Amino acid sequence: MDERHQFGGRLGFILASAGAAVGLGNIWRFPYLAAKYGGGIFLLVYVIFCVTFGYTMVVAETAIGRITRQTPATAFAALTQNRLLRIGGWLNAIVPLLIAPYYSVIGGWVLKYFVAYLTGQGAALAGDTAFSAFISSPVEAEIYFILFAACTLGVIYLGVRGGIERVAKMAMPLLVVLALLISGYICTRPGAGAGIRYYLVPDITKFSYKTLLAALTQMFFSLSIAMGILITFGAYMKREVGIEDATFQIEIFDTGIAVLAGFMIIPAVFAYSGGDANALSSGPSLMFVTIPKVFASMAGGGFVGGLFFALVFFAALTSAIALAECSVSALEERLHWSRSRSTIASFVFLVALGSLSCLGFGPLANVRIFGMQFLDFFDFITNSVMMPAAALAICLLITKVIGLERVAEELEFGGQRFKLRPVFNFMIRWVCPICVIAVLIFSIASMMGLISL
Ligand code: PHE
Repeated sequence: MDERHQFGGRLGFILASAGAAVGLGNIWRFPYLAAKYGGGIFLLVYVIFCVTFGYTMVVAETAIGRITRQTPATAFAALTQNRLLRIGGWLNAIVPLLIAPYYSVIGGWVLKYFVAYLTGQGAALAGDTAFSAFISSPVEAEIYFILFAACTLGVIYLGVRGGIERVAKMAMPLLVVLALLISGYICTRPGAGAGIRYYLVPDITKFSYKTLLAALTQMFFSLSIAMGILITFGAYMKREVGIEDATFQIEIFDTGIAVLAGFMIIPAVFAYSGGDANALSSGPSLMFVTIPKVFASMAGGGFVGGLFFALVFFAALTSAIALAECSVSALEERLHWSRSRSTIASFVFLVALGSLSCLGFGPLANVRIFGMQFLDFFDFITNSVMMPAAALAICLLITKVIGLERVAEELEFGGQRFKLRPVFNFMIRWVCPICVIAVLIFSIASMMGLISL
Protein backbone atom coordinates (compact mmCIF):
# COMPACT_ATOMS: atom_id res chain seq x y z
CA MET A 1 0.00 0.00 0.00
CA ASP A 2 1.57 3.30 -0.97
CA GLU A 3 1.95 6.37 1.22
CA ARG A 4 -0.92 8.27 -0.34
CA HIS A 5 -3.39 5.79 1.03
CA GLN A 6 -2.29 6.19 4.59
CA PHE A 7 -3.85 8.44 7.15
CA GLY A 8 -1.86 11.59 7.78
CA GLY A 9 -1.26 10.73 11.39
CA ARG A 10 -2.89 9.82 14.61
CA LEU A 11 -5.50 12.52 14.45
CA GLY A 12 -6.56 11.49 10.96
CA PHE A 13 -7.02 7.93 12.05
CA ILE A 14 -8.94 8.87 15.16
CA LEU A 15 -11.23 11.30 13.36
CA ALA A 16 -11.97 8.88 10.56
CA SER A 17 -12.76 6.06 12.91
CA ALA A 18 -14.69 8.30 15.28
CA GLY A 19 -16.82 9.55 12.38
CA ALA A 20 -17.63 5.97 11.49
CA ALA A 21 -18.04 4.88 15.10
CA VAL A 22 -20.38 7.62 16.28
CA GLY A 23 -23.74 7.29 14.65
CA LEU A 24 -27.19 5.92 15.20
CA GLY A 25 -25.71 3.18 17.36
CA ASN A 26 -24.87 5.75 20.01
CA ILE A 27 -27.84 8.06 19.79
CA TRP A 28 -30.67 5.75 18.80
CA ARG A 29 -29.73 2.16 19.62
CA PHE A 30 -27.84 2.49 22.89
CA PRO A 31 -30.54 4.44 24.82
CA TYR A 32 -33.39 2.15 23.78
CA LEU A 33 -31.42 -0.95 24.80
CA ALA A 34 -30.42 0.65 28.11
CA ALA A 35 -34.07 1.57 28.76
CA LYS A 36 -35.24 -1.92 27.90
CA TYR A 37 -32.60 -4.01 29.63
CA GLY A 38 -32.54 -2.61 33.13
CA GLY A 39 -31.00 0.90 32.97
CA GLY A 40 -28.09 1.10 35.42
CA ILE A 41 -27.20 -2.55 35.24
CA PHE A 42 -27.04 -2.37 31.44
CA LEU A 43 -24.81 0.71 31.62
CA LEU A 44 -22.44 -0.98 34.05
CA VAL A 45 -22.17 -4.17 32.01
CA TYR A 46 -21.71 -2.15 28.83
CA VAL A 47 -18.83 -0.10 30.21
CA ILE A 48 -17.10 -3.20 31.61
CA PHE A 49 -17.41 -4.90 28.22
CA CYS A 50 -16.02 -1.86 26.43
CA VAL A 51 -12.85 -1.58 28.48
CA THR A 52 -12.08 -5.30 28.33
CA PHE A 53 -13.71 -7.02 25.39
CA GLY A 54 -14.11 -3.97 23.17
CA TYR A 55 -10.54 -2.84 23.76
CA THR A 56 -9.21 -6.28 22.84
CA MET A 57 -11.24 -6.59 19.64
CA VAL A 58 -10.44 -3.09 18.41
CA VAL A 59 -6.71 -3.66 19.00
CA ALA A 60 -6.89 -7.10 17.35
CA GLU A 61 -8.64 -5.90 14.21
CA THR A 62 -6.52 -2.82 13.77
CA ALA A 63 -3.40 -4.95 14.18
CA ILE A 64 -4.60 -7.46 11.56
CA GLY A 65 -5.16 -4.60 9.13
CA ARG A 66 -1.79 -3.02 9.77
CA ILE A 67 0.15 -6.25 9.68
CA THR A 68 -1.39 -7.42 6.41
CA ARG A 69 -2.16 -4.06 4.76
CA GLN A 70 -5.20 -5.71 3.17
CA THR A 71 -8.98 -5.54 3.24
CA PRO A 72 -10.81 -8.08 5.46
CA ALA A 73 -11.46 -10.94 3.05
CA THR A 74 -8.05 -10.74 1.41
CA ALA A 75 -6.32 -10.26 4.77
CA PHE A 76 -7.64 -13.59 5.98
CA ALA A 77 -6.87 -15.27 2.68
CA ALA A 78 -3.31 -13.92 2.75
CA LEU A 79 -2.68 -15.40 6.16
CA THR A 80 -4.37 -18.76 6.24
CA GLN A 81 -5.45 -21.71 4.14
CA ASN A 82 -8.03 -22.75 6.69
CA ARG A 83 -11.45 -22.73 5.02
CA LEU A 84 -13.44 -21.90 8.14
CA LEU A 85 -11.23 -18.98 9.01
CA ARG A 86 -11.47 -17.69 5.47
CA ILE A 87 -15.25 -17.79 5.75
CA GLY A 88 -14.81 -15.72 8.90
CA GLY A 89 -12.93 -13.17 6.80
CA TRP A 90 -15.79 -13.06 4.35
CA LEU A 91 -18.29 -12.58 7.14
CA ASN A 92 -16.37 -9.48 8.19
CA ALA A 93 -16.78 -8.18 4.67
CA ILE A 94 -20.46 -9.07 4.28
CA VAL A 95 -21.82 -7.67 7.54
CA PRO A 96 -21.66 -3.99 6.51
CA LEU A 97 -23.55 -4.83 3.32
CA LEU A 98 -26.43 -6.14 5.40
CA ILE A 99 -26.35 -3.37 7.97
CA ALA A 100 -26.22 -0.45 5.52
CA PRO A 101 -29.79 -0.98 4.20
CA TYR A 102 -31.62 -1.03 7.50
CA TYR A 103 -29.30 1.65 8.88
CA SER A 104 -30.49 3.85 6.03
CA VAL A 105 -34.12 3.15 6.91
CA ILE A 106 -33.51 4.62 10.37
CA GLY A 107 -31.53 7.40 8.69
CA GLY A 108 -34.68 8.09 6.68
CA TRP A 109 -36.70 8.43 9.88
CA VAL A 110 -34.17 10.96 11.16
CA LEU A 111 -34.36 12.86 7.89
CA LYS A 112 -38.16 12.98 8.08
CA TYR A 113 -37.98 14.43 11.60
CA PHE A 114 -35.40 16.98 10.52
CA VAL A 115 -37.57 18.10 7.60
CA ALA A 116 -40.66 18.23 9.81
CA TYR A 117 -38.95 20.57 12.28
CA LEU A 118 -37.49 22.64 9.48
CA THR A 119 -40.92 23.21 7.99
CA GLY A 120 -42.57 24.00 11.30
CA GLN A 121 -44.40 20.70 11.53
CA GLY A 122 -42.38 19.42 14.48
CA ALA A 123 -45.08 19.88 17.11
CA ALA A 124 -47.27 17.27 15.41
CA LEU A 125 -44.58 14.65 16.04
CA ALA A 126 -45.17 14.84 19.78
CA GLY A 127 -48.50 13.04 19.39
CA ASP A 128 -48.56 9.44 20.60
CA THR A 129 -49.38 7.92 17.25
CA ALA A 130 -47.37 10.21 14.99
CA PHE A 131 -44.38 7.91 14.74
CA SER A 132 -46.29 4.68 14.18
CA ALA A 133 -48.46 6.41 11.58
CA PHE A 134 -45.33 7.57 9.75
CA ILE A 135 -43.43 4.28 9.67
CA SER A 136 -46.48 2.32 8.63
CA SER A 137 -47.17 4.68 5.72
CA PRO A 138 -45.64 2.85 2.77
CA VAL A 139 -45.01 5.85 0.54
CA GLU A 140 -43.71 8.47 2.96
CA ALA A 141 -41.36 6.18 4.90
CA GLU A 142 -40.02 4.70 1.67
CA ILE A 143 -39.42 8.14 0.15
CA TYR A 144 -37.39 9.31 3.14
CA PHE A 145 -35.44 6.07 3.16
CA ILE A 146 -34.58 6.40 -0.53
CA LEU A 147 -33.63 10.05 -0.01
CA PHE A 148 -31.27 9.09 2.78
CA ALA A 149 -29.75 6.30 0.68
CA ALA A 150 -29.36 8.77 -2.22
CA CYS A 151 -27.54 11.25 0.04
CA THR A 152 -25.20 8.51 1.21
CA LEU A 153 -24.33 7.16 -2.21
CA GLY A 154 -24.44 10.63 -3.73
CA VAL A 155 -21.61 11.68 -1.44
CA ILE A 156 -19.65 8.56 -2.32
CA TYR A 157 -20.26 9.06 -6.02
CA LEU A 158 -19.38 12.73 -6.07
CA GLY A 159 -16.35 12.01 -3.96
CA VAL A 160 -17.16 14.90 -1.65
CA ARG A 161 -15.99 12.94 1.34
CA GLY A 162 -13.51 15.66 2.22
CA GLY A 163 -16.34 18.16 2.43
CA ILE A 164 -18.60 15.92 4.39
CA GLU A 165 -15.84 15.10 6.83
CA ARG A 166 -15.26 18.78 7.40
CA VAL A 167 -18.97 19.22 8.09
CA ALA A 168 -18.99 16.19 10.36
CA LYS A 169 -16.02 17.53 12.27
CA MET A 170 -18.01 20.64 13.05
CA ALA A 171 -21.28 18.78 13.52
CA MET A 172 -19.86 16.34 16.06
CA PRO A 173 -18.72 18.87 18.66
CA LEU A 174 -21.97 20.78 18.09
CA LEU A 175 -23.91 17.59 18.67
CA VAL A 176 -22.09 17.05 21.95
CA VAL A 177 -22.82 20.61 23.10
CA LEU A 178 -26.45 20.34 22.09
CA ALA A 179 -26.80 16.93 23.73
CA LEU A 180 -25.37 18.40 26.94
CA LEU A 181 -27.84 21.28 26.83
CA ILE A 182 -30.82 19.08 26.00
CA SER A 183 -29.96 16.49 28.63
CA GLY A 184 -29.48 19.31 31.15
CA TYR A 185 -32.95 20.57 30.31
CA ILE A 186 -34.49 17.10 30.51
CA CYS A 187 -32.77 16.12 33.74
CA THR A 188 -34.19 19.16 35.50
CA ARG A 189 -37.81 18.42 34.51
CA PRO A 190 -40.14 17.26 37.27
CA GLY A 191 -40.07 13.47 37.46
CA ALA A 192 -36.75 13.13 35.62
CA GLY A 193 -34.92 12.21 38.86
CA ALA A 194 -36.44 8.73 38.82
CA GLY A 195 -35.11 8.32 35.29
CA ILE A 196 -31.61 9.38 36.26
CA ARG A 197 -31.71 6.88 39.11
CA TYR A 198 -32.98 4.16 36.78
CA TYR A 199 -30.16 4.91 34.37
CA LEU A 200 -27.30 5.23 36.84
CA VAL A 201 -28.04 2.95 39.79
CA PRO A 202 -27.55 -0.70 38.90
CA ASP A 203 -30.45 -2.84 40.04
CA ILE A 204 -29.16 -6.38 40.28
CA THR A 205 -32.66 -7.86 40.13
CA LYS A 206 -32.88 -6.59 36.56
CA PHE A 207 -29.78 -8.52 35.56
CA SER A 208 -30.14 -11.56 33.35
CA TYR A 209 -28.30 -13.17 30.48
CA LYS A 210 -30.32 -10.85 28.25
CA THR A 211 -28.51 -7.86 29.74
CA LEU A 212 -25.19 -9.47 28.81
CA LEU A 213 -26.28 -10.35 25.30
CA ALA A 214 -27.76 -6.93 24.58
CA ALA A 215 -24.71 -5.12 25.96
CA LEU A 216 -22.27 -7.28 24.05
CA THR A 217 -23.99 -7.04 20.69
CA GLN A 218 -24.50 -3.30 21.14
CA MET A 219 -20.80 -2.91 21.80
CA PHE A 220 -20.01 -4.66 18.52
CA PHE A 221 -22.39 -2.38 16.64
CA SER A 222 -21.24 0.84 18.25
CA LEU A 223 -17.49 0.27 18.09
CA SER A 224 -17.86 -1.14 14.55
CA ILE A 225 -16.26 -4.43 15.61
CA ALA A 226 -16.41 -7.49 13.34
CA MET A 227 -17.48 -5.47 10.32
CA GLY A 228 -14.18 -5.27 8.53
CA ILE A 229 -14.10 -1.53 9.13
CA LEU A 230 -11.29 -1.54 11.66
CA ILE A 231 -9.22 -3.97 9.60
CA THR A 232 -9.51 -1.57 6.69
CA PHE A 233 -8.62 1.40 8.89
CA GLY A 234 -5.68 -0.50 10.33
CA ALA A 235 -4.41 -1.12 6.82
CA TYR A 236 -4.32 2.64 6.24
CA MET A 237 -2.64 3.44 9.55
CA LYS A 238 1.00 4.46 9.79
CA ARG A 239 3.25 2.32 11.95
CA GLU A 240 4.32 5.30 14.04
CA VAL A 241 0.76 5.70 15.31
CA GLY A 242 0.11 3.88 18.56
CA ILE A 243 -2.70 1.36 18.10
CA GLU A 244 -3.39 1.14 21.81
CA ASP A 245 -3.71 4.86 22.46
CA ALA A 246 -5.87 5.33 19.40
CA THR A 247 -8.11 2.54 20.69
CA PHE A 248 -8.52 4.21 24.09
CA GLN A 249 -9.48 7.46 22.47
CA ILE A 250 -12.04 5.95 20.13
CA GLU A 251 -13.60 4.02 22.99
CA ILE A 252 -13.84 7.03 25.29
CA PHE A 253 -15.36 9.16 22.57
CA ASP A 254 -17.82 6.55 21.36
CA THR A 255 -18.94 5.42 24.81
CA GLY A 256 -19.11 8.99 26.08
CA ILE A 257 -21.56 9.97 23.37
CA ALA A 258 -23.69 6.88 23.95
CA VAL A 259 -23.86 7.56 27.70
CA LEU A 260 -24.78 11.17 27.03
CA ALA A 261 -27.55 10.12 24.65
CA GLY A 262 -28.91 7.92 27.43
CA PHE A 263 -29.12 11.01 29.65
CA MET A 264 -31.31 12.66 27.05
CA ILE A 265 -33.68 9.85 26.40
CA ILE A 266 -34.16 7.79 29.58
CA PRO A 267 -34.98 10.62 32.00
CA ALA A 268 -37.31 11.97 29.29
CA VAL A 269 -39.29 8.73 29.38
CA PHE A 270 -39.78 9.28 33.11
CA ALA A 271 -40.52 13.00 32.90
CA TYR A 272 -42.96 12.70 30.02
CA SER A 273 -44.41 9.21 30.34
CA GLY A 274 -43.93 8.55 34.04
CA GLY A 275 -41.40 5.76 33.48
CA ASP A 276 -44.10 3.57 32.01
CA ALA A 277 -42.73 0.03 31.52
CA ASN A 278 -44.24 -0.21 28.05
CA ALA A 279 -42.56 3.00 27.00
CA LEU A 280 -39.23 1.83 28.45
CA SER A 281 -39.31 -1.40 26.52
CA SER A 282 -40.62 0.11 23.30
CA GLY A 283 -37.33 -0.49 21.44
CA PRO A 284 -36.38 1.16 18.14
CA SER A 285 -39.16 3.75 18.30
CA LEU A 286 -38.05 5.19 21.65
CA MET A 287 -36.00 8.16 20.44
CA PHE A 288 -38.62 9.12 17.88
CA VAL A 289 -41.43 9.10 20.42
CA THR A 290 -39.91 10.67 23.54
CA ILE A 291 -37.65 13.34 22.07
CA PRO A 292 -40.42 15.22 20.18
CA LYS A 293 -42.39 15.42 23.43
CA VAL A 294 -39.43 17.14 25.03
CA PHE A 295 -39.15 19.68 22.22
CA ALA A 296 -42.89 20.32 22.30
CA SER A 297 -42.61 21.32 25.96
CA MET A 298 -39.66 23.67 25.42
CA ALA A 299 -39.68 27.33 24.55
CA GLY A 300 -38.12 27.46 21.08
CA GLY A 301 -38.45 23.68 20.87
CA GLY A 302 -39.15 23.80 17.14
CA PHE A 303 -35.76 25.36 16.47
CA VAL A 304 -33.85 23.14 18.89
CA GLY A 305 -35.64 20.10 17.43
CA GLY A 306 -34.55 21.05 13.92
CA LEU A 307 -30.97 21.54 15.03
CA PHE A 308 -30.94 18.29 16.98
CA PHE A 309 -32.20 16.16 14.11
CA ALA A 310 -29.86 17.93 11.68
CA LEU A 311 -26.92 16.87 13.82
CA VAL A 312 -28.17 13.31 14.26
CA PHE A 313 -28.62 13.25 10.49
CA PHE A 314 -24.95 14.15 9.98
CA ALA A 315 -23.79 11.58 12.52
CA ALA A 316 -25.90 8.95 10.75
CA LEU A 317 -24.74 10.04 7.31
CA THR A 318 -21.01 9.79 8.07
CA SER A 319 -21.56 6.29 9.43
CA ALA A 320 -23.76 5.27 6.51
CA ILE A 321 -21.07 6.49 4.11
CA ALA A 322 -18.48 4.30 5.84
CA LEU A 323 -20.86 1.35 5.62
CA ALA A 324 -21.82 1.87 1.97
CA GLU A 325 -18.21 2.52 1.00
CA CYS A 326 -17.58 -1.12 1.92
CA SER A 327 -19.82 -2.39 -0.84
CA VAL A 328 -18.69 0.17 -3.41
CA SER A 329 -15.01 -0.57 -2.86
CA ALA A 330 -15.67 -4.32 -2.78
CA LEU A 331 -17.28 -4.14 -6.24
CA GLU A 332 -14.46 -2.01 -7.58
CA GLU A 333 -11.83 -4.34 -6.19
CA ARG A 334 -13.44 -7.70 -6.89
CA LEU A 335 -15.24 -7.13 -10.18
CA HIS A 336 -13.05 -4.27 -11.42
CA TRP A 337 -16.13 -2.15 -11.97
CA SER A 338 -15.86 1.61 -12.35
CA ARG A 339 -16.71 3.80 -9.39
CA SER A 340 -19.98 4.98 -10.93
CA ARG A 341 -21.11 1.49 -11.83
CA SER A 342 -20.23 0.22 -8.36
CA THR A 343 -22.07 3.12 -6.74
CA ILE A 344 -25.22 2.59 -8.79
CA ALA A 345 -25.22 -1.15 -8.15
CA SER A 346 -24.77 -0.53 -4.43
CA PHE A 347 -27.63 1.95 -4.46
CA VAL A 348 -29.96 -0.56 -6.13
CA PHE A 349 -28.94 -3.25 -3.66
CA LEU A 350 -29.38 -0.90 -0.70
CA VAL A 351 -32.83 0.22 -1.78
CA ALA A 352 -33.98 -3.31 -2.57
CA LEU A 353 -32.90 -4.78 0.72
CA GLY A 354 -33.74 -1.73 2.80
CA SER A 355 -37.25 -1.60 1.37
CA LEU A 356 -37.99 -4.89 3.09
CA SER A 357 -37.07 -3.36 6.44
CA CYS A 358 -38.91 -0.15 5.63
CA LEU A 359 -42.11 -1.77 4.41
CA GLY A 360 -41.94 -4.29 7.24
CA PHE A 361 -43.71 -1.72 9.40
CA GLY A 362 -46.46 -1.19 6.83
CA PRO A 363 -47.63 -3.43 4.00
CA LEU A 364 -45.22 -6.24 4.93
CA ALA A 365 -46.06 -6.16 8.64
CA ASN A 366 -47.47 -9.66 8.52
CA VAL A 367 -44.32 -11.18 7.11
CA ARG A 368 -42.15 -12.50 9.91
CA ILE A 369 -38.80 -14.26 9.81
CA PHE A 370 -38.21 -16.37 12.92
CA GLY A 371 -40.97 -14.26 14.49
CA MET A 372 -39.24 -10.95 13.72
CA GLN A 373 -40.03 -8.01 11.47
CA PHE A 374 -37.53 -7.49 8.67
CA LEU A 375 -35.63 -4.67 10.38
CA ASP A 376 -35.33 -6.61 13.63
CA PHE A 377 -34.33 -9.68 11.69
CA PHE A 378 -31.50 -7.95 9.83
CA ASP A 379 -30.36 -6.32 13.05
CA PHE A 380 -30.43 -9.69 14.80
CA ILE A 381 -28.78 -11.78 12.12
CA THR A 382 -25.88 -9.34 11.79
CA ASN A 383 -25.32 -8.34 15.42
CA SER A 384 -26.17 -11.58 17.15
CA VAL A 385 -25.09 -14.21 14.66
CA MET A 386 -22.71 -13.02 11.95
CA MET A 387 -20.67 -10.57 13.99
CA PRO A 388 -19.98 -13.00 16.86
CA ALA A 389 -18.93 -15.60 14.28
CA ALA A 390 -16.70 -13.03 12.55
CA ALA A 391 -15.25 -12.04 15.92
CA LEU A 392 -14.46 -15.66 16.69
CA ALA A 393 -12.57 -15.88 13.41
CA ILE A 394 -10.59 -12.77 14.39
CA CYS A 395 -9.66 -14.26 17.77
CA LEU A 396 -8.53 -17.50 16.13
CA LEU A 397 -6.60 -15.69 13.43
CA ILE A 398 -4.70 -13.75 16.09
CA THR A 399 -3.98 -16.65 18.43
CA LYS A 400 -3.48 -19.50 15.97
CA VAL A 401 -2.11 -17.85 12.85
CA ILE A 402 -0.54 -14.46 13.51
CA GLY A 403 0.54 -15.21 17.06
CA LEU A 404 0.48 -12.99 20.12
CA GLU A 405 4.17 -12.24 19.75
CA ARG A 406 3.69 -10.71 16.32
CA VAL A 407 0.81 -8.57 17.58
CA ALA A 408 2.95 -7.35 20.48
CA GLU A 409 5.74 -6.53 18.07
CA GLU A 410 3.32 -4.46 15.98
CA LEU A 411 2.01 -2.59 19.02
CA GLU A 412 5.50 -1.99 20.38
CA PHE A 413 6.86 -0.67 17.08
CA GLY A 414 9.36 2.13 17.52
CA GLY A 415 9.63 1.65 21.28
CA GLN A 416 5.96 2.17 22.10
CA ARG A 417 4.58 0.49 25.18
CA PHE A 418 1.81 -2.13 24.94
CA LYS A 419 0.38 -1.30 28.33
CA LEU A 420 -2.44 -3.77 28.61
CA ARG A 421 -0.64 -6.66 26.96
CA PRO A 422 -1.52 -9.23 29.68
CA VAL A 423 -5.17 -8.17 29.52
CA PHE A 424 -5.17 -8.40 25.75
CA ASN A 425 -3.56 -11.85 25.74
CA PHE A 426 -5.93 -13.25 28.33
CA MET A 427 -9.01 -11.79 26.70
CA ILE A 428 -8.20 -12.86 23.16
CA ARG A 429 -7.25 -16.37 24.19
CA TRP A 430 -10.07 -17.16 26.55
CA VAL A 431 -12.74 -14.63 27.38
CA CYS A 432 -13.55 -13.28 23.91
CA PRO A 433 -13.90 -16.67 22.18
CA ILE A 434 -15.99 -18.11 25.04
CA CYS A 435 -18.29 -15.08 25.13
CA VAL A 436 -18.87 -14.99 21.39
CA ILE A 437 -19.58 -18.71 21.32
CA ALA A 438 -22.09 -18.15 24.15
CA VAL A 439 -23.75 -15.36 22.17
CA LEU A 440 -24.00 -17.65 19.15
CA ILE A 441 -25.57 -20.44 21.18
CA PHE A 442 -28.14 -18.12 22.75
CA SER A 443 -28.94 -16.50 19.42
CA ILE A 444 -29.50 -19.80 17.69
CA ALA A 445 -31.61 -21.00 20.62
CA SER A 446 -33.74 -17.90 20.33
CA MET A 447 -34.12 -18.34 16.57
CA MET A 448 -35.36 -21.85 17.20
CA GLY A 449 -37.86 -20.49 19.69
CA LEU A 450 -36.23 -22.16 22.69
CA ILE A 451 -35.72 -18.88 24.57
CA SER A 452 -37.05 -15.37 24.04
CA LEU A 453 -34.68 -12.42 23.87
N1 PHE B 1 -20.76 2.24 14.68
C1 PHE B 1 -21.76 2.93 13.93
C2 PHE B 1 -22.85 3.43 14.85
O1 PHE B 1 -22.73 3.32 16.04
C3 PHE B 1 -22.33 2.03 12.88
C4 PHE B 1 -21.30 1.70 11.87
C5 PHE B 1 -20.79 0.46 11.77
C6 PHE B 1 -20.80 2.66 11.04
C7 PHE B 1 -19.81 0.17 10.86
C8 PHE B 1 -19.82 2.39 10.12
C9 PHE B 1 -19.33 1.14 10.04
O2 PHE B 1 -23.83 3.94 14.43
